[in-house]
Amino acid sequence: MSRTRTSLLAALALVAGASGTALGMQSASATAAAVPCTVDYKVQNQWSTGFTAAVTITNNAPAKSTWSLKWSYAGDQKVTSGWNAKLSQSGNAVTAANESYNGALATGGSVSFGFQGSYTGTNAVPATFTLDGVACNVDNGGGGDNGGGGDNGGGGDNGGGGTTGRVDNPYTGAKVYVDPEWSKLAAAEPGGSRVSNQPTFVWLDRIAAINGVNGGMGLRAHLDEALKQKGSGELVVQLVIYDLPGRDCAALASNGELGPTDIDKYKTQYIDAIASILADSKYAGLRISALIEPDSLPNLVTNAGGTNTTTDACVTMKSNGNYEKGVSYALDKLGNLLNVYNYIDAGHHGWLGWDTNLGPVAQEFYKVATTNGASLSDVAGFIVNTANYSPTKEPNFKVTDTVNGQTVRQSKWVDWNQYVDEQSYAQGLRDKLISSGFSSNIGMLIDTSRNGWGGTARPTGPGPLTSVDNYVNGGRIDRRIHVGNWCNQSGAGLGERPTAAPAAGIDAYVWAKPPGQSDGASAPVDNDEGKGFDQMCDPTYGGNARNGNNPSGALPNAPLAGHWFSAQFQQLVQNAYPPLS
Ligand code: GLC
Repeated sequence: MSRTRTSLLAALALVAGASGTALGMQSASATAAAVPCTVDYKVQNQWSTGFTAAVTITNNAPAKSTWSLKWSYAGDQKVTSGWNAKLSQSGNAVTAANESYNGALATGGSVSFGFQGSYTGTNAVPATFTLDGVACNVDNGGGGDNGGGGDNGGGGDNGGGGTTGRVDNPYTGAKVYVDPEWSKLAAAEPGGSRVSNQPTFVWLDRIAAINGVNGGMGLRAHLDEALKQKGSGELVVQLVIYDLPGRDCAALASNGELGPTDIDKYKTQYIDAIASILADSKYAGLRISALIEPDSLPNLVTNAGGTNTTTDACVTMKSNGNYEKGVSYALDKLGNLLNVYNYIDAGHHGWLGWDTNLGPVAQEFYKVATTNGASLSDVAGFIVNTANYSPTKEPNFKVTDTVNGQTVRQSKWVDWNQYVDEQSYAQGLRDKLISSGFSSNIGMLIDTSRNGWGGTARPTGPGPLTSVDNYVNGGRIDRRIHVGNWCNQSGAGLGERPTAAPAAGIDAYVWAKPPGQSDGASAPVDNDEGKGFDQMCDPTYGGNARNGNNPSGALPNAPLAGHWFSAQFQQLVQNAYPPLS
């Protein structure tokens, strides 16, 4: 999981993959079959002068190889930009024609596209649509649009139930679930009882984890325990959705059980199985925070072609589209449940903080959140720093500092990045995402489980002003050898304790990676979990392009990823910052 592949190639802008098809096959409902087409037009977000809309066409007529949908606005709506269709407007009349990659529309098949528009006054849904000149049935979502105010409550209503079931920030005013299994392991370590009552995420890292692995707790057992912890107040249960086909394509330590083409198994045996448990009405009062697929979309942007960080496995996952299809599916299915808050993994600043990566990743997120059945209202927000070690706030230098007329961005450590810590990255990314079309209600999470960097090696103030490198290296609290290092980092400490709404735009500091669980084995270990051996977990390894060919900085004698690593837990406690009292 989550390692950080830096893209050192800050200068290389990659465009989001265009390989994913926008076709989502859905069976046409029997009642609609008499009409040649059905159009579902939903306003996703609306603010005082603009809106975004998602349109899904279902074809009940013979298969098509191209299509063109037309409608007219009663008001002064103007389409300003679109995706997955070529949109044009003349007066009130709008035409949406297929792109080169989504012209094929089978009988019973559907295709979706979206757009942004401006308006004044009211923004009514058009009354009639024609597909290739033939009138369609209109299905405007049965109350699924968010009508007017544009305040869709963080997750927004999702058009499924048609009610606004979500609050803006699920962590506000709520307790967070303490995983009894993690808590017990932590409490058994020296000093561990000082943190063993902290909430951590439950990683559903394989299909078997849904029912429980090796006699451990499955999802229902966790949710039942969560109901007890909840009592009469509010409680957030935190889950990691982590089993994509071809998982962990830029590294080996957390390769998973599903092969690159196992998308159907992912949908039916993993996501559907989780969604059906979460849909049990007895759990409807729990707030579920779902961390969606660590590393996957960032890997498609920086490691899937055209850079020296490219891996064959990421190229495969980009070209077969299965990360995108899987993430869209997860967003859609989990987003149908009004008590679920989906947070998409967004790497960390040392991976995506260069403008040349930030723009493309925002585009990639947007694409995945608006195709294959997913919609923007399925996204509550994003999480940064999952299982990584980047500090929340770097106290000893800022990205705007200069030394002898040189910007710290020129230092070797910062390497022209636009950010030097996670909180500024999370806030900057959030702004970028909102300007790319996401709701202004999205909130960010920061994984602070292991980014404390306290202990005796922590610098107490800024470095010397003799050069940008001396200044940055002397002051930075992040003591890694390179910001691209990610496995069981030597010197790390527990970071901020989980906290709701700690800063503007941040829904919570959370502990996504349960402290004490290994990032990967330091030598090959036979296993039946699909885990590989990644040299970035071997302290004797000299590195690769993703960490600037530096030593790995990993602790020795580590067990397989996810397994308990007592020595690491003890180091994290020792170096906690803020220190443990
Ligand atoms: C790694 C492991 C996974 C584990 C997770 C949390 O990603 O591959 O099995 O659940 O870390 O520790």
